[in-house]
Amino acid sequence: MESTARLIIDGKTFELPVIEGTEGERALDISDLRKETGLITLDPGYANTGSCESSITFMDGEKGILRYRGIPVEQLAEHSSFRETAYLLINGELPTEEELNRFSEMLNDHSLIHEDMRSFFENFPRRAHPMGILSSMVNGLRAFYPELPQRNEKEEINITFTRLLSKVRTLAAMSYKISLGHKVVSPSHRLSYCANFLNMMFDSPVRPYAIDEDLVQALNVFWILHADHEQNCSTSAVRLVGSARVNLYAAISAGIAALWGPLHGGANQAVVEMLQQIYDNGGDPAPYIARAKDKSDPFRLMGFGHRVYKTYDPRGCIMEKMCAKVLKKLKRKDPLLDIAKRLEEVALKDSYFIDHNLYPNLDFYSGIFLRALGIPLNMFTVMFAIGRLPGWISQWKESIDDPQWKLHRPRQIYIGPKERDYIPIEEKS
Ligand code: SDX
Repeated sequence: MESTARLIIDGKTFELPVIEGTEGERALDISDLRKETGLITLDPGYANTGSCESSITFMDGEKGILRYRGIPVEQLAEHSSFRETAYLLINGELPTEEELNRFSEMLNDHSLIHEDMRSFFENFPRRAHPMGILSSMVNGLRAFYPELPQRNEKEEINITFTRLLSKVRTLAAMSYKISLGHKVVSPSHRLSYCANFLNMMFDSPVRPYAIDEDLVQALNVFWILHADHEQNCSTSAVRLVGSARVNLYAAISAGIAALWGPLHGGANQAVVEMLQQIYDNGGDPAPYIARAKDKSDPFRLMGFGHRVYKTYDPRGCIMEKMCAKVLKKLKRKDPLLDIAKRLEEVALKDSYFIDHNLYPNLDFYSGIFLRALGIPLNMFTVMFAIGRLPGWISQWKESIDDPQWKLHRPRQIYIGPKERDYIPIEEKS
């Protein structure tokens, strides 16, 4: 296949290198475009623009394929744990038993929060959104854990990764308990990563939390499905902020902020709010589908559509099955699950959704799963953030290890006023 593309501008021909990825995706390398031609490209939302070469996650949006370091997400969901998948994403290979045990020990050793951070929580308004608290607290971690020069760079970075992975879980549970005015539950060295989180969230002196291994396993799968997704909005925020060589905590804090948006990670909360509205209005999804199709209405069907997937999101298929499994295990029914299935059925028969390739994405069922676990609505996106953390860390690491490292600084096409003179205010009419 051609390894160059020809561009003719004002009668002059320019050759652009064509590069090819492991799975056959091809790209025009425009690194020298402006130097060679004086022109830049314009691509609002970067729908056609690759920001980097990466060996972490592969997605095929047309075929609904998702692989972490080459391993299909379906296999990881079936056989792996969140800790093992986090290790795979960050280190590039699945761990040996010894490596995984060492990783687990470090996660345990770094699971406590500095007691002085407690006062941060106590000074947030009770109604503060947990995503705003999490973004602030992660940024605040830097003040408590500055890089220590006596450790070598690689060891320091690994400790920082593990500290973040472990403490973000404790911070989330702590913010929940403090928001209720309840006693904070400390992490236990006896519990695994996911069991520890559930215990910190739901244990209480008057009602001890009974660890259910099926729910722990379901949470592992939930976080595996969220662990990475190549250059999505929040990962791109981590890479962009990280490109200025800020510390990892600041870059991750930026990723949390980006994920908060309802078009991105905030969609899992928005889906449940939409389904609840449909339920409260009698359960008929038709008016919402009509609104989603109405160009004059800014309403979007939350949990539907994706920038990359133009078929089923493979994670959404697994999440739907997990909802049913957990509700069955808990012997519970959730009317919102029935509404979601009805909505999906009606939408996928509608030509608008078919023509626009709009299918349920990861967020469409994830909120119903979280409701079944007892996670409060305003913490749904925090749950997404905890799952996405290994992905953000691995992508940040790949970018700082890149010998081609560049500060992210896109260009623009200016369409404002031409040069004009200042007018003193007294002359302004
Ligand atoms: C996540 O990127 C990732 O990988 C993200 C993520 C991850 O793991 O990191 O997968 C997680 O963020 C999943 C997406 C969660 N967001 C939602 O569920 C919110 C609802 N979805 C949409 O807002 C939308 O689908 C986006 C933002 C997700 C993607 O939008 P695009 O690719 O920018 O598409 P677009 O906005 O250009 O829309 C293309 C067309 C438009 O119609 P036309 O003007 O071309 O006629 O599709 C329509 C849109 O109006 N459209 C929708 C729709 N999504 C797109 N119409 C109704 N309802 C929707 N949900």
